[in-house]
This record gives sequence, C-alpha cells and structure tokens, in this order.
Amino acid sequence: MNENLTIAAMTAALADPAGAPSHPLIFLILGVVTFALHIAAVSVLLGSTGLALVARFKGTDHWLRLGATMSFTAKAAVGAAIVLGVAPLLFVQVVFDPFWYASSMLSAVWTLVFLLLLVIGYLALYRVDALLHRGSETGRGAAFWLAGALVLFIACGALMHVFSNQALFPGQWLAWYAPDGRVDASGRGLHYVLVPRLLFFLSLSLPVTAAWLYGLRRYVLSKQFMTNDDALYSDFLESTAFAMGRAGGLLTLFFGVVWMAMLPAEQAWFIGSAWPWIGLIAALFFLAMPYIQKRRRLCTTCSYMAFVMSVVMTVLLATVREALRVGTLMDSAGFSPFELAVNWDVPSVAIFFVTFLLVGGTSLAYIFMSAWKAGLATNGKPGAVWTPSAGIERAGSWAALLLSLWIAGYFAVGLAVVLNS
Ligand code: HEM
Repeated sequence: MNENLTIAAMTAALADPAGAPSHPLIFLILGVVTFALHIAAVSVLLGSTGLALVARFKGTDHWLRLGATMSFTAKAAVGAAIVLGVAPLLFVQVVFDPFWYASSMLSAVWTLVFLLLLVIGYLALYRVDALLHRGSETGRGAAFWLAGALVLFIACGALMHVFSNQALFPGQWLAWYAPDGRVDASGRGLHYVLVPRLLFFLSLSLPVTAAWLYGLRRYVLSKQFMTNDDALYSDFLESTAFAMGRAGGLLTLFFGVVWMAMLPAEQAWFIGSAWPWIGLIAALFFLAMPYIQKRRRLCTTCSYMAFVMSVVMTVLLATVREALRVGTLMDSAGFSPFELAVNWDVPSVAIFFVTFLLVGGTSLAYIFMSAWKAGLATNGKPGAVWTPSAGIERAGSWAALLLSLWIAGYFAVGLAVVLNS
C-alpha cells in the first residue's frame, strides 16, 4: 500500500501541469479508435509484405500478379500506419504522459533505432518496386528486400510493444533505471516483452489481410472489362484469403488465450473481469470470417464488409487493451485518467477536429475515390490513362482549397502569436 502511494506521488509529480485541453474521456476514445486504425493498417502492412514475399517463391502467374499488387499495397500501408500511429501517440501523451515519457526515456536510444528501422524497411519496398519494374527480376533480389523489410517492420512492432508495456510497470522503473543502485541513463535498455501479447497483435495481420483479399477479389470482379483470367484470378484470391483467414483466426485465438494465461501479477485483476470475454468476441469473429465469406461468396457488399468488420473488431480489441491499461495503472499506481486536470482549450480541440475531419477527410476521400475509379476503369494496366468525372474533379478542387486555407491559417496564427508576444 505504501509503495503504491509512493508510485502515485511519483507519477503525479511527473504529470504535465497543463493537463488535458478537454474531458479526458474524449482523448481516451480518440486514442482507442486511432490505435485500432493504426493496428489495422499495421496488419495490412505486415500481411501484404508477407504475401509479396511468398509470391516470389511460388512464382505462378497469379501469385506474381498478387505479389505485384501487394508490394504496392505495402507501401501505401506503411504511410497509413505511420499517419495512424502519430494520432494515438498524441492521445497517449495527453492522457498517460508520465508513463509514456518514463518508458521512452528508459529506452531512448531504441526510439531512434525504431525510426531508422522503419525508414530502411520503407526504402526496401521501393527497391522491390524498382527491381520488379526493371523486368529482368528473377525473384531472388526482390525476395531479399521483401524479407528484410518484413523483419524490420516486425522489429518496429516489437519496439512499440516494449515502449507501450514498460509504461505499465511504474513499480519497476527504479530497478530498470538504476540496477543495483547504479544509475544507467544511457537509454539503451529494453526491459519488458510479453511474447504472446506481441504475437497476438502481429498475428492479427493474417485475418485482417485475408479480409483485405476478400475485398480485392470483389474489386477484381467489378472491373469494367473482365477477362477470363480475371475470373480465375478472383477464385485464386478467394482460396488464398480462405487459407490465410482460417490459419490467422486460429493463431489469433491461440495467442490471445496464451496472453491471458501469462498475464503478469500486476495485471492479474483483468482475468477475473468481463474484458477478456469481450476480446473473445473479436477472436471468434476472425475465426468465423472465412466460413462466413464462403457461404456469402456472391454477395458484393459482404466481401467488402469483411474488411469493415475487421476494423470494427480491432476497435473492440483496442477498447479491451485500453481497459487493461487503465485498470492496471489504477491498481498499481493509483492513477486515473478521469482525475486529470482539465484546462479547457476550445480552439485547440476545434482545430484538431476541423483538421482531422474536414481537411483530412476531403483529401482522403478524393484520393480514395480517384484510386478506386482509376483502378476499375483501366484494369490496373501500367500507363493506361483515366479521365476523372466532373464530381471527382470538384472533390479534388475542394481538397486543394481546404488544404491551402489550412496552411495559410497555420502561418497566420503563428505570425499573430509571434507578433503579439
Ligand atoms: C512497421 C511499423 C509499425 C509496427 C509493426 C507497429 C506495431 C505496433 C504494435 C504491435 C503495437 C501494440 C503494442 C502492444 O500493445 O503490445 C503498436 C502500438 C503503437 N504504435 Fe505502432 N507500429 C508501427 C509503427 C508505428 C509508428 C510509425 C508510430 C507513430 C509514429 C506508431 C505508434 C504507435 C502507438 C502510439 C502505439 C500505442 C501505444 C500505447 O497505446 O501505449 N507505431 N504498434
């Protein structure tokens, strides 16, 4: 009890006096939703890189076609994972600042290594593209870079896992920072890994990417000029998605159960709560998804719904993960996000939502609509020309206008602050 009081006093002393700019619940919810989107993008990134790698070894026409699409998807997914990683990073810092900060300081060197690994992995995907476009690619070069990228991305996930989990053990920080009483301020340590938890999040890449493949299959079937080979290719996509989804569902359930069985003492309270059962709903969905898709293979919306539902399930899992953190920190550090000091700052909250929904929303809508329509109209043939409709042109003009206004506003506010200070 005394130890808990000391930890509570320590984390209270570390907390940012600025507090939260509006009710902490808003940031908790935003943190959960954006983390779910992050982990969905990470799953597609890992799954598509893995599939592109397997394709190099399989070498059949359909595998090579899928491999080319997947190496392109992987690049886009890295971008999405980064953007959707920054968002929960902001919210975690608002709500759990002392914990996240302490964990990052303990492994400061690794937070920089993380960036390096991510950049090298990302560049490796571009190298794959260059090799594939050269045409003389025999498979080994691209396979080497794809395998390298996959290992680096998994290492990034492992580092994120360590940063996130070290934050849950304030009672251990002193021992990690000053082992045997000797201060180690190097930031070179990595102090806590819970392997089944890490594997659980990594294994999500199988069912989530399988859901993505079901969508891809339906997309191929919706093309304007479908060839005989497209029909065969769509069957190939279906059977690949089924195999991947079935194995992925089993692995996710398995790692989820092992994770719960190996929870550390500080998190033992969780197993007696209702939360693991809520997480089980998501795992069971992933297990059932390939069979549901098999029964509804002719239903257009069902194919796309597989991915939408997968994202909904990641939101469910992210909620359970957040409950584990909040409950554990309440229990072991006497910390409650709901007791954070609130200093209402309406303009900053308004700017966030306007940027996120209006500026980000229109730009993303324009990019997605263009990619979708262009892909369907040109059959994805390199060099084919697509003419956008008037509606898409208008959406593009709005996206550019709002972004320009935002940039002008950004500099105007900055200048006003500087000139008035
Ligand atoms: C290849 C790249 C990446 C992979 C594979 C990856 C994977 C992961 C995984 C597996 C987790 C969950 C860890 C756990 O709860 O045990 C996680 C959490 C997280 N990641 Fe990533 N990540 C990547 C890139 C990024 C980037 C670039 C950012 C931000 C700039 C980011 C920000 C976050 C945040 C904020 C969390 C949650 C932290 C928390 O709630 O405590 N990630 N990531």
